[in-house]
Amino acid sequence: MKKIALFLALAFMVATAQAQTYNTLWIPDTLSGTNFTLTARDTFKQMVTGNQTITAAYNGNFWGPTMIWNKGDVVHLTVNNQLQDTTTVHWHGMHLPAIMDGGPHQTIPPYTTWSPYWKVDNNAATYWYHPHLHMDAEKQLTQGLGGLIIVRDSIESALALPRTYGVDDIPVILTDRSFDASKQFTVVPYGDSMVTNGVLRAQYTVPAQIVRFRILNAAIERSYNIGFSDNRTFYIITTDGGLLNKPVTATRYLISPGERVEILVNFNGQSGSNLNMKAFNSTLSNFIAGGENFPGGPFANALGKIDFNVLHINVGTATSNAITTIPSALTTNVFPTAASANITRVVTMSDSTGVSGILGPNAFILNHHLFGLNTVDYSVPLNNTEIWQLTSSSVFAHPFHIHDVEFHILSRNGVAPDSTEDGWKDVVLVKGGETVKFIAKFSDYADSLHPYMFHCHIALHEDEGMMGQFVVGNAPTGIMNVAQNSKLKIYPNPVKGMLHYEIADGKSISKAYILNVTGQVVLTFDMEGKSPELDISSLDGGMYFVCLLDTDGGMYIKSYLKE
Ligand code: C2O
Ligand code: CU
Ligand code: CU
Repeated sequence: MKKIALFLALAFMVATAQAQTYNTLWIPDTLSGTNFTLTARDTFKQMVTGNQTITAAYNGNFWGPTMIWNKGDVVHLTVNNQLQDTTTVHWHGMHLPAIMDGGPHQTIPPYTTWSPYWKVDNNAATYWYHPHLHMDAEKQLTQGLGGLIIVRDSIESALALPRTYGVDDIPVILTDRSFDASKQFTVVPYGDSMVTNGVLRAQYTVPAQIVRFRILNAAIERSYNIGFSDNRTFYIITTDGGLLNKPVTATRYLISPGERVEILVNFNGQSGSNLNMKAFNSTLSNFIAGGENFPGGPFANALGKIDFNVLHINVGTATSNAITTIPSALTTNVFPTAASANITRVVTMSDSTGVSGILGPNAFILNHHLFGLNTVDYSVPLNNTEIWQLTSSSVFAHPFHIHDVEFHILSRNGVAPDSTEDGWKDVVLVKGGETVKFIAKFSDYADSLHPYMFHCHIALHEDEGMMGQFVVGNAPTGIMNVAQNSKLKIYPNPVKGMLHYEIADGKSISKAYILNVTGQVVLTFDMEGKSPELDISSLDGGMYFVCLLDTDGGMYIKSYLKE
């Protein structure tokens, strides 16, 4: 009894002493089940003394709710856009139909709703969702839009791992922000202040047992070289897209934008102690984001090339049923073998210097060209197993991300990756001058109309055009190349009753046709003088094309899904 009283008194004193210094880590709410509603809107958050900071957020908080999904479930999402801006929501890491992916093509105009659904096919791990509007990813991410996804499956559930959310299974979303004089976010690649789960100078009390941290790098540009102030060993249990075969010990883990890692930390018997999770960025190379020390200019920031706290950790008492051991084995991953590959695609990453006209000196590009919304770089045959060889001539390190698939890294500069990367990944940091090869199988969801993205996950680079796209399935007669298609917006998608359309340059539409996937016209509408909506409620569920003709004979085509 005395001991406990003393401990509580001490804990109270420590808490009081730190009250000025630390803020309690915000643990985003959870949503579970199979139907999820996300509403994006502007809101406020008290982040610094003075004015509240305007943030945009899903369901009222920066960060939005953590959605918990089970592999094998069909999840239905309803995304309400109550922002003043068009947005998109991408389900980062998910294997799903391209039309549900929420990339730059699946735009959600203000005050409309988007309702994608698909069967969760990913391994248990930590994923996330975030806006992906072309050229506005940096801005909308900065505003605070984003959240975590936890996928559970039978393999992970059978393991004795911590999984009480917010207690021994703790989300840690890393980013940084800068504030202007009126305490509003400035849209900059590097912030001056570390922001963990939307909180400055975050602290949290963890139980004295094995604790799992689900770490996401959601920063615009910075990588974080994660470790602990006492240099303790921790245990890496996942990469982006699933469990490693067994825990890998480390004292540092470099995490780049878009990447996730789950680690186990042993706090057994350490009740009453405290320590810091830190970013040891002073030791990073000058060519890895966060390792530069810019004296001035747009990239100057207070966190460049220094070590700084990410989370202050107080160790409390153990819970009942505490997990106190680290499992020795986790899963048995079966990766595609290099011998099974149908093709090796070479993707180049380079600086734009010398590329004619369009780019500033600081931009970076893929395959020697800027991203174009109507340019499809690759058509990947369904069920192909492919090696993608990322060859960088850039001086800078870029976190390369691909949609649709999880991949396995085969080599870095010809050498097999170390055990911390020997799992399913969807982001890989390609350092300056490196060649990285990964392998992936492109199964399911053939759709020659809707592309998936691949890009640098530094939002600034992505916005500036360091992105490309591929379709799965053989490309048809170049529908993507009808330049006008980018001027057509249709919503909602999937649709039940009324399909709405908008033509960007205000041309008036005279005829509308609905075609089925074999190209047969199933509905025809005369649109002269009518409002821009098509009643398609009579159609069976499935994939269709809407084809619009304007009064000048211009044609616009988009596919959509009828529910
Ligand atoms: Cu996390 Cu294409 O993005
Ligand atoms: Cu993604
Ligand atoms: Cu980049």
